[in-house]
Amino acid sequence: MITQFEEILFSEKEIRARVSELAVEITNDYQGKDPLLVCVLKGAVFFMADLVREITISCEMDFMAVSSYGSATDSSGVVRILKDLDANIEGRNVIIIEDIIDSGLTLSYLRKNLRARNPASVEVCSLLTKPSRRKVDIACKYVGFETPDVFVVGYGLDYMEQYRNLRFIAVLPEEEF
Ligand code: PRP
Repeated sequence: MITQFEEILFSEKEIRARVSELAVEITNDYQGKDPLLVCVLKGAVFFMADLVREITISCEMDFMAVSSYGSATDSSGVVRILKDLDANIEGRNVIIIEDIIDSGLTLSYLRKNLRARNPASVEVCSLLTKPSRRKVDIACKYVGFETPDVFVVGYGLDYMEQYRNLRFIAVLPEEEF
């Protein structure tokens, strides 16, 4: 699937700069706390990889895969864990790393699920947020960019598994879906 992207929302350079800023914030906030960064597969994989390499304190990585029932463009809030964490998070300072918060339903479920495991803290770091689509209130401590209600792809974000490998984030033209 090859598409010309007329509207690039965030360029590679803008993403790199913002990711560095978020890494500085996390580095400052988590001195001596050895945070566990939990990447929610697959969309957050590049964000996680770039962010963690800019963090200059000791930290660890883990991965979760979840499947949210729904259509190609809408999640339902009914979430199934496909791959759970390897680590026991009791007493740990957890940061959930997401690519996008849309309705907030996936994150709301995830957060509740992780909190039940008695971590010291759970915060959220999402590269993108679409506030206009929110169905549940979700506190997100670290946000890269706000986006309007358009379908975005690239830098990990997909449409039917395509476009994740773009270096930038673009608007998928409506005629594509
Ligand atoms: C996306 C994204 C979030 C979720 C956000 O994942 O990574 O996990 O949807 O939507 P919500 O706020 O409406 O719940 P997706 O299910 O597309 O999986 P992917 O990361 O593997 O692409």
